[in-house]
Amino acid sequence: MANVAVIGTQWGDEGKGKVVDLYSASTDVIARFQGGNNAGHTIVVNGQQTILHLIPSGILHDRKICIIGNGVVVDPKILIQEIELLKNRGIFPPHTKLFISENAHVIMPYHRRIDVARESHKSGKKIGTTGRGIGPAYEDKTARVGIRICDLIDDEMFKEKLEQNIEEKNFYLTKCFGEEPMDPASIYKEYSGYAEYLKAYIADTSLIIHGALKEGKKILFEGAQGSHLDVDHGTYPYVTSSNTVAGNASCGTGIGPSAVHQVIGICKAYTTRVGEGPFISELTDETGNRIREIGREFGATTGRPRRCGWIDVVLVKQSVRLSGITGIALTKLDVLTGLKTIKICTAYETPQGRKFTESIPSNLRILSQCQPIYEQMEGWSENISHVRHIKELPQNTRRYLKKLESFIGQKFVLVSVGPGRDETIVLKDPFAG
Ligand code: IMP
Repeated sequence: MANVAVIGTQWGDEGKGKVVDLYSASTDVIARFQGGNNAGHTIVVNGQQTILHLIPSGILHDRKICIIGNGVVVDPKILIQEIELLKNRGIFPPHTKLFISENAHVIMPYHRRIDVARESHKSGKKIGTTGRGIGPAYEDKTARVGIRICDLIDDEMFKEKLEQNIEEKNFYLTKCFGEEPMDPASIYKEYSGYAEYLKAYIADTSLIIHGALKEGKKILFEGAQGSHLDVDHGTYPYVTSSNTVAGNASCGTGIGPSAVHQVIGICKAYTTRVGEGPFISELTDETGNRIREIGREFGATTGRPRRCGWIDVVLVKQSVRLSGITGIALTKLDVLTGLKTIKICTAYETPQGRKFTESIPSNLRILSQCQPIYEQMEGWSENISHVRHIKELPQNTRRYLKKLESFIGQKFVLVSVGPGRDETIVLKDPFAG
């Protein structure tokens, strides 16, 4: 019996929500370990779509413990909206419990203001953030001036920390960006209300997970974004501000790394990216537009059109290495149906003939000179969404899967052929160890 971490192997939006939702059926605790409401996990159950930004994607199952870990940055307003939405729709299961780590940091209004102000002042050098204040909130955490959930619910502490922060942030906002200052009294009033609402959900979540482990319960660690948005290992500076690799599953929930036994890397059958930054296998032609339309590749958080391209196994192989991935869940294979030819990016090459097959160059000047090297394959035209066994897939689809497995050097544990829970070919149960 194993505990499993689920992470993205590309630049996010790989379909982690669907896989976490599926795996939640066979787990007891689902713990999110990083990111914030920059994420948007789309889950479709009985044709009804739910997009979650903060609450773990396992919430739609009854009798689970869902945890927002210490590594997450929490926008309380968004979290409350999400809880209310689930309750109003009648899909917050009666026996499922949600807990928020008291050590998680709070995204404050000044974080959002700084995020947006910085982006709008960076002509030509924008990161293309989601504008949700994620970066500034993690900065404050590292600078040791952040407000944690446990500070938010301690009235005296909250007031003191808010006042200190506002003084500094107002200076920054007004002097650097010519923005209006923020009013601490109105923020205090608004956030005190959020604290009151959220009190019932706040806990020492490390202890809860530890207790579950002692009872032999199964834990699913839910990642957000993707490996190449990782602040250490991604295409820096075009990254998010947290560690998205599996190593953070333990740090971001307060559990030792030995509790994570299997790591499932979610990989889309093609590649997408939102925001700025290098993307070697990007398609800016009709094929890219077609993938975007058929795959509905528009940001779940911001609605932005996602940049689309061929699958890039250099990216995925690097993710396998960075996270110690033990199996791949391939998603959105059905989106490629109908394409005459399909390409796989197997390497990058510079004009000087330098080749990269295992790792992406960290130096963005070198990366920007790289051209993709493709292996080309014949596509398939048959509808594959009803297929539940690999053997029933068209021959060219199976060839594509075989090629990918051999290039990536990992087996598939599942292949998703549609957004619904049932539109899945299950090959291996990672919880079986
Ligand atoms: P931030 O996380 O809002 O600071 O944005 C930094 C970069 O990460 C931008 O390129 C965003 O588009 C990207 N990003 C953040 N969250 C996600 C996600 O959940 N999916 C895909 N891209 C994301």
